[in-house]
Amino acid sequence: MELDFIEDMFDGIARRYDLLNRLLSLRQDVYWRRSMISALDIAGPAAVLDVACGTGDVIIELIRRHPDLRQIIGLDFSMRMLHIARHKIKALGYQKNVTLVAGNGLSLPIAPGSMDAVTIAFGIRNIMDRKSALAEFYNCLKPGGKLAVLELTTPEQRFFNTIYLLYFNTILPRIGSLLSKNLGAYQYLPASVIAFPRSAAFAALMRQAGFTDIRWKKMTLGICTLHLGIKPF
Ligand SMILES: C[S@@+](CC[C@H](N)C(=O)[O-])C[C@H]1O[C@@H](n2cnc3c(N)ncnc32)[C@H](O)[C@@H]1O
Repeated sequence: MELDFIEDMFDGIARRYDLLNRLLSLRQDVYWRRSMISALDIAGPAAVLDVACGTGDVIIELIRRHPDLRQIIGLDFSMRMLHIARHKIKALGYQKNVTLVAGNGLSLPIAPGSMDAVTIAFGIRNIMDRKSALAEFYNCLKPGGKLAVLELTTPEQRFFNTIYLLYFNTILPRIGSLLSKNLGAYQYLPASVIAFPRSAAFAALMRQAGFTDIRWKKMTLGICTLHLGIKPF
């Protein structure tokens, strides 16, 4: 089953995941997460759910930027990713208001209308049933709550796109498989990014799920895109 394959794959690469992210994106991943958190513009002691939290990098950046958050829930179905997240968060002394949950983004164990913001970074691409995932995110947000979706995308400028796809389809899988010993995962990565809908099409899915004030921002020549939306009052 598709979900089992993805879960096993992330379990398999968890140990080298952070190193490979920094290396393969030339540390742009750190900048992209920070941009997402700035754009969310969270105010006061809010409650935030980070879906597909992986090794906890969004949670860590959230707490750095907003030490007064009331509650942060990180959810992921890979136990190994969660294990690393737990250690990293504890090592920084950030564990106080953080709950890490093993679960599926398609069936959130979160009370409806309880979250001020939902974030998902580099996770939605792995969830084929995006319509149901967006409906879940919408359901657990309070009216006025914000959704931020950060995802890898392909550049729109044709010349840069050609060069990027060359790197993405040939060099990246080799480095990834060398360091993670998992060629499949780093072949899946470009395939899943190429298959991800264009920004306007993803925005339309968000609109269908009920979100308003949808906007998106392309970063680093379009290799990463941030979508934002609000659950109306
Ligand atoms: C590329 S990683 C991103 C991790 C993290 N958000 C980050 O910024 O580095 C994708 C994560 O999504 C998780 N994931 C994929 N599909 C999921 C699903 N349906 N439910 C929960 N977690 C999922 C994987 O286990 C993995 O940890």
